[in-house]
Amino acid sequence: MRFSALTQLSCPRCSRSHDADQVTNVCTCGSPLLAEYDLAEIRAGRTREEVSARPATLWRYHELLPVRSPDQIVTLGEGMTPLLPMPAFGKEVGVPHLLMKDEGLIPTGTFKARGAAVGVSRARELGVKNIAMPTNGNAGSAWATYAARAGMGSLIAMPYDAPEICRRECRVVGAELELVDGLIGDAAALVREKLAERDGWLDVSTLREPYRIEGKKTMGLEIAEQLGWRCPDVILYPTGGGVGLIGIWKALNELVELGWITGPLPRLVAVQASGCAPIVTAYEAGAQESEPWPDARTVAFGITVPKALGDFLILRAIYETGGCAVAVDDEDLLAEQRRVAELEGTFICPEGAAAFSAVRALRASGWIEAQEEVVVLNTGTGLKYPSTVPLPS
Ligand SMILES: Cc1ncc(COP(=O)(O)O)c(C=O)c1O
Ligand SMILES: [Zn+2]
Repeated sequence: MRFSALTQLSCPRCSRSHDADQVTNVCTCGSPLLAEYDLAEIRAGRTREEVSARPATLWRYHELLPVRSPDQIVTLGEGMTPLLPMPAFGKEVGVPHLLMKDEGLIPTGTFKARGAAVGVSRARELGVKNIAMPTNGNAGSAWATYAARAGMGSLIAMPYDAPEICRRECRVVGAELELVDGLIGDAAALVREKLAERDGWLDVSTLREPYRIEGKKTMGLEIAEQLGWRCPDVILYPTGGGVGLIGIWKALNELVELGWITGPLPRLVAVQASGCAPIVTAYEAGAQESEPWPDARTVAFGITVPKALGDFLILRAIYETGGCAVAVDDEDLLAEQRRVAELEGTFICPEGAAAFSAVRALRASGWIEAQEEVVVLNTGTGLKYPSTVPLPS
């Protein structure tokens, strides 16, 4: 049994296959690429019990990850975050079986560490020496941190409005940092401009490199394993680029194919802020793709993505699982952040708070039923957003 059962990259839009051992960005048709594995080989050679007996990091799923050699792994001990019951908040909103997957307890304080650990490891394995990316902040600080650990150079471009701590995280690990007066798309344009003058740099923008999603999919693998190898009824995810949501969907489909869990899959819910809700608008129209959102603005900065490259995959994941997409006002998500803290003693990020607010709304509308088991992704720690909690003057 090989360490990784990676076989190829394939295009979810035009079905073209690509060599997984070449440095590759997107398909010739412009679509993101997805990694494929020899699931029959894993099914024949491994049991889920063997996997569960390994150390509690995301690397326990190495057969389902793209890094071929254990020597190439760049790790800070990421993965296996707690899946915590939320009984007091659950009682208040009428969902007694409510759980939080808490990604605040991971290196760099957000789930972005998962994508960075796997993406940087695989890039190093393929001989990449320098990486560059536009970011809303958290991904940039995670990738800069893992790049430093790998001995790679990094160029990170983010909006001025991104959480200030992310700038400091980039600085401390020696990344080249660019700030833009605009949104993530403007940061992407700057990265492209800079890279046009450089050789040997890999653009690792969201879904423009195929392995970040493999890291993020481990959230789905862990949820299934932590529930005793089964699915909850509903998973809510604060959605910007949607990599986590698409990754969870991919992970659960792989586990079903392996025979390690049985369906049906959970209904996947994309939660956005009403100041930037392109996926919600597309979902409400029954569309297959989203339209760029004008004047995007929300305090949940990580989900300020006016047009996601993988929008068609997010929407496919929602439609195929019978999920939905909902938007939450800033005022409501900030109130929910406080309520979760008061009732459960945990300081969550505003993006995660949006997903808790969506639970309240979907239970009130009856879309979530009282006895359903519901998992909310808290994608990061509130400690990265101190200004979301004003102090009395
Ligand atoms: C804390 C937090 N939550 C959620 C997201 C959205 O992530 P995704 O691109 O997977 O939708 C981000 C992205 O920056 C983030 O920083
Ligand atoms: Zn294609």
